[in-house]
Amino acid sequence: MKFDTPAGRNPIDQLKVVGRPLDRIDGPLKTTGGAPYAYERRDVAPNAAYGYVVGSAIAKGRIRSLRTEPARSAPGVLAVVTAETAGPVSKGQYNTAKLLGGPEIQHYHQAIAVVVAETFEQARSAAQLLQVDYAPTAGAFDLEAAKDSAIKPEAEDPSSAPDSAYGDFDEAFKAAPVTLDQTYTTPDHSHAMMEPHATTAVWAGDKLTLWTSNQMIAWSKGDIAKTFGLKPENVRLDSPYVGGGFGGKLFVRADAVMAALGSKAIGGRPVKVALQRPLMINNTTHRPATIQRIRIGAERSGRITAIGHQSWSGDLDGGQLETAAAQTKLLYAGANRMTAMRLATLDLPEGNAMRAPGEAPGLMALEIAMDEMAETLGMDPVEFRIVNDTQVDPQDPERPFSSRRFVECLRTGAERFGWSRRNATPGAMRDGDHLIGFGMAAGFRNNLLMKSAARVRLSAEGRITVETDMTDIGTGTYTILAQTAAETLGVPIDKVSVRLGNSDFPAAAGSGGQWGANNSTSGVYAACMKLREKVIEKLGYPADAAFQDGRVRAGRRSATLASAATDGTIVAEDFIEYGDLDKRYQQSTFAGHFVEVAVDAYTGETRIRRMLAVCAAGRILNPKTARSQVIGAMTMGVGAALMEELAIDKRRGFFVNHDLAGYEVPVHADIPHQEVIFLDEVDDKSSPMKAKGVGELGLCGVAAAIANAIYNATGVRVREYPITLDKHLQHLPAPI
Ligand code: MOS
Repeated sequence: MKFDTPAGRNPIDQLKVVGRPLDRIDGPLKTTGGAPYAYERRDVAPNAAYGYVVGSAIAKGRIRSLRTEPARSAPGVLAVVTAETAGPVSKGQYNTAKLLGGPEIQHYHQAIAVVVAETFEQARSAAQLLQVDYAPTAGAFDLEAAKDSAIKPEAEDPSSAPDSAYGDFDEAFKAAPVTLDQTYTTPDHSHAMMEPHATTAVWAGDKLTLWTSNQMIAWSKGDIAKTFGLKPENVRLDSPYVGGGFGGKLFVRADAVMAALGSKAIGGRPVKVALQRPLMINNTTHRPATIQRIRIGAERSGRITAIGHQSWSGDLDGGQLETAAAQTKLLYAGANRMTAMRLATLDLPEGNAMRAPGEAPGLMALEIAMDEMAETLGMDPVEFRIVNDTQVDPQDPERPFSSRRFVECLRTGAERFGWSRRNATPGAMRDGDHLIGFGMAAGFRNNLLMKSAARVRLSAEGRITVETDMTDIGTGTYTILAQTAAETLGVPIDKVSVRLGNSDFPAAAGSGGQWGANNSTSGVYAACMKLREKVIEKLGYPADAAFQDGRVRAGRRSATLASAATDGTIVAEDFIEYGDLDKRYQQSTFAGHFVEVAVDAYTGETRIRRMLAVCAAGRILNPKTARSQVIGAMTMGVGAALMEELAIDKRRGFFVNHDLAGYEVPVHADIPHQEVIFLDEVDDKSSPMKAKGVGELGLCGVAAAIANAIYNATGVRVREYPITLDKHLQHLPAPI
């Protein structure tokens, strides 16, 4: 199905199943421990041996010698695989560093060996016996120091160009009566998902099966084929349940490659590998740190006349930008604009996508800048943003947003939060020993359209089965796909089974960039519409027959849906693909985030008191799962604001706090009250579902809202995340 004109009325608009806050259909299986995750596939891969991955102890240099003998002869050990013994292992398309290092080492904890043994303990114990002699070389580990040598990377296509310019930024900024020129920093972040990267691998001849934890099955299947020089049809991936990814599992990582190598070394017997928690952070990817300079010029009325955003980030040689200036092209009006992003070469572990790559750190900076600018102008920060709303792409005024209810997000949020009770003078609101602050920020994240396929079956019993390689990374995909099929085919949701994550199924959009929900449901919708055609043909009904209550109706004729399949299961497969509606219209999602904090006047410790997000993101397919996405994202925003920072050892080049004891993320006690409001919106340009994504929108802007609330509480402006108490303690107003 090609989607190239705005959606008219269609079966989804009935909203009998779609749009309802239904419980997750996979909930009982997960909460009873019955859902098989990648490391626990005894059902399909019994008798698995255990692989333990060894990471490099240096960040850069060479392995001079690697002696494996003592490990090989340790109890229970079946094999030790290193670059020397692995055979050809190529670099995949989607990773910058090789997933098996040696003799060249590209980053700390790059995998250099997998020890395979009968038990996990034997593998771990033998791994300590590897004797590695390294020849380290000096590396660059400090973004600030490397900033001036950063380069302008080449863009693959113009939309991802590192620079943009419109009007005359320099002149307009110079001429503006009110200006801001500030620099903000965000640190390296870790995905820190619950389930570690894990894979169980099996070879049968030259056929490789990986039960793995992965967000993007089709990409990863291709990359595994490339890595081992296999025909794609000889590679199978199965990832039905994923315990969180946040971008860290978009691509194949060392667990998959090392499990495959381990299994090959022992004749194809299953080998399972979970990256041990202390290895994960330096072995896999992270969100790169940024340095961001923002300049805003405005008239005294508050109208922005010049807006400029520069960002610097670092990655391994050949790596990629953190696109932190991207949203500044689109969020606010202003006739003169510039953005520029530069990439420094660092020898830290590989930087890559983490939830809302670009916008998440970008808004951490931009939305403090907007707060500072509002204060300088003497304006309310909500009003300042409203004055600078735009309904068109500011760099292409002929190109409107498909839908943009940003102002309504802000107004609704202000009203529901009680924003009018805020005292704009910092340090003026108190509650006992606490300094109270209100803060707000905008949320913005693009809506991305991706081709997505699915297959649906109708059995003689009237059961519908949906099959697609789409993944559910904890987001609720199983449920919204079942809702889509139930709505389109006119059956109750309990008649629908959903099978996901298997590379034998049609290729879906996958889970990434908050594009999963809108695109994968549209793919299922397309397949269900094709199934309807087949049913109609079978029954000899007219094309406009209605599918309702498990029946097909046309005029006075009516038959059960199941009756169409009495001769055998009917199977239909289709995909959604898109025309140019995302070129003719800018498709984005919007939020207003509001936060109240209390800062202890004696200790400087910040506590979140309450949070509110108002989101405009097209049709909300399931308000319960969508809300869970947003409150999870808001929680992640608290981490970004107050806690999360990968601390770099700048001499040796690694992240020091590489476990969950040292890398702090919020716990329940940090999150007392969260509220989410979805504006009632449909976007007919986004897809037949008229939906968009919310999973990343919920994070975008949250940290800045907290930063702004802390400033309102304390009068101390901290521009370096995370806002830990040491950064403002010496400057707090005196306790009363
Ligand atoms: Mo997202 S960072 O594209 O999983």
